[in-house]
Amino acid sequence: MYYSDDVIEEVRSRNDIVDVISGYVKLQRKGSSYFGLCPFHSEKSPSFSVSPGKQMYYCFGCGAGGNVLTFIMEYENFTFPEALKLLADRAGMALPEPEYSDEARRQRDLKESVREINKMAANYFYYQLRSPQGERALKYLTDRGLSDQTIKRFGLGYAGQYSDALYRYLKGKDISDQLLKESGLMQVNEKQGMYDKFWNRVMFPIMDVNNKVIGFGGRVMGDGKPKYLNSPETVIFDKSRNLYGLNYARTAKKRYMLVCEGYMDVISMHQAGFTNAVASLGTALTSQHATLLKRYTDEVILTYDSDEAGIRAALRAIPLLKEAGISTKVLHMEPYKDPDEFIKALGTEAFQERIDRAENSFLFEVSVLQKSYDMKDPDGKTRFFQAVAAKIAEFELEIERENYIEAITGRYQISFEGLRKMVANVLMQGVSARRVQPVRQQARPEKEDGIRKSQRLILTWITEYPQLFDVISRYIQPEDFSDELYCEVATMLYDQRKKGTVNPAQIINHFTDPEQQRSVAQLFNTDVKVGNPKEMEKAVRETIYKVVEYTIDQKSHALDPADMKGLQELVNAKRRLQEILRLHISL
Ligand code: CTP
Ligand code: MN
Repeated sequence: MYYSDDVIEEVRSRNDIVDVISGYVKLQRKGSSYFGLCPFHSEKSPSFSVSPGKQMYYCFGCGAGGNVLTFIMEYENFTFPEALKLLADRAGMALPEPEYSDEARRQRDLKESVREINKMAANYFYYQLRSPQGERALKYLTDRGLSDQTIKRFGLGYAGQYSDALYRYLKGKDISDQLLKESGLMQVNEKQGMYDKFWNRVMFPIMDVNNKVIGFGGRVMGDGKPKYLNSPETVIFDKSRNLYGLNYARTAKKRYMLVCEGYMDVISMHQAGFTNAVASLGTALTSQHATLLKRYTDEVILTYDSDEAGIRAALRAIPLLKEAGISTKVLHMEPYKDPDEFIKALGTEAFQERIDRAENSFLFEVSVLQKSYDMKDPDGKTRFFQAVAAKIAEFELEIERENYIEAITGRYQISFEGLRKMVANVLMQGVSARRVQPVRQQARPEKEDGIRKSQRLILTWITEYPQLFDVISRYIQPEDFSDELYCEVATMLYDQRKKGTVNPAQIINHFTDPEQQRSVAQLFNTDVKVGNPKEMEKAVRETIYKVVEYTIDQKSHALDPADMKGLQELVNAKRRLQEILRLHISL
């Protein structure tokens, strides 16, 4: 972190969260909070709350939450310094020069220059397309069915027929060869020296989620080879962390995203109204792509080419998406090769129909699997169903397994009971092809979950009801919060309460990772539905009781039987535990 805590806190406190978020989300007052439709997941009734008191937002639907800085980072997909800058500007505050190390400063300057060069190149290509020399390229694009509006929206361009045009153009802007080399737009060889990487191609600028050009794809007009050329990775272009079209798709607010293979597929789909389409950049989908997608959606529909390569790409993508918590379907394009060709041939409605009928990814995997077995041979059939049973056994929940058994029974020649027994066998032998489940998906023991919820409730109450702090802090100390993050937050919160004013949004400043900020926001927004003050008082008593009881349990497990002093302390603690149930709590 290059800015001091004071600076961060000043920027935060000068930007009222309700003001800021109102600029993005329509909010309505309800009691002490404001509510609106959550911008981070799609919903019909508002569960996104903004609290002027806490200067925090929290979505009861998807768990997104944080302070005003978190919001800008998440909504604009900004880094922390970028969000800080935006809010400082908004408040008319000048930020002090951040304290960069020399190396960090050099890196930042390099990135800035490379960005600038890519932007200049995009402009250059854009104008070339509209110049007399660009006539043929423009015709190529319009012949492929792209409207003027689409060409403009995607910033398409043309790299002229001379292989040093861009080089000379950028030289005219006084850019050093050293920087040009870093830009990814030039090639160097001994004979010719430096020359353009792209020439005589239509150009597809690749933008990051903030609409900044980070690289290019260039296509030959016609059948030349290679069909596409792409910018190499540079200091600003990381292919495994960017998706073509995501700058538009992220605001499409559809329940799902369409993931395809090519630039032209994305553009055709967007032109046809499917503005939630993205593509990886001439590379396979990576787990970083999956994580990126997960920020915007829980469901992906793969619209890969209907050839062998497309099927293989889908089989590779499905587990990566699953690991990121995304459920996947596969869209079938037959008899067409890709979305571009399909839409051109059959139109928008037919494509929507295919979306609606997209196949569950598990059933897709099974149907591919089936092709490698001889189903006319009894042994082949048996082995196929054994393989299917092993795959079904990978599902954590019984209900999931049963649903898939049912789906398979509907498609293949096997009875529900028959397949169920096979799955049960696999489970019993423990020889399932079980992959290691990511930690996130492992169910926590219920007790653990319950106690964490109680601990969160305590923190929320301390924030919302100052009058409860006295009684709570008599029984519960920050160390009693079992999770490291909870304990850290509790320490700060207790500190603030003792000093008199609670400022949860400031506590969030201490965490720079949006994932952590979200977890902290959850700590301040845990709620129970209680009807009247009497019930609320009862809930407070019982929650304090649970938290204290848990600490005692933990301590008694860890107690050395020879530790008499420790034992006595536990006995005392247990006695006080009874006291809690008789506590008088007044709100
Ligand atoms: N690609 C690439 N280099 C190639 C061929 C393809 O980087 N030599 C990448 C491009 O990102 C391209 C994607 O793979 O968009 C899909 O390739 P392909 O299916 O061959 O092209 P289409 O998208 O169908 O392109 P077009 O419709 O223009 O032929
Ligand atoms: Mn195509």
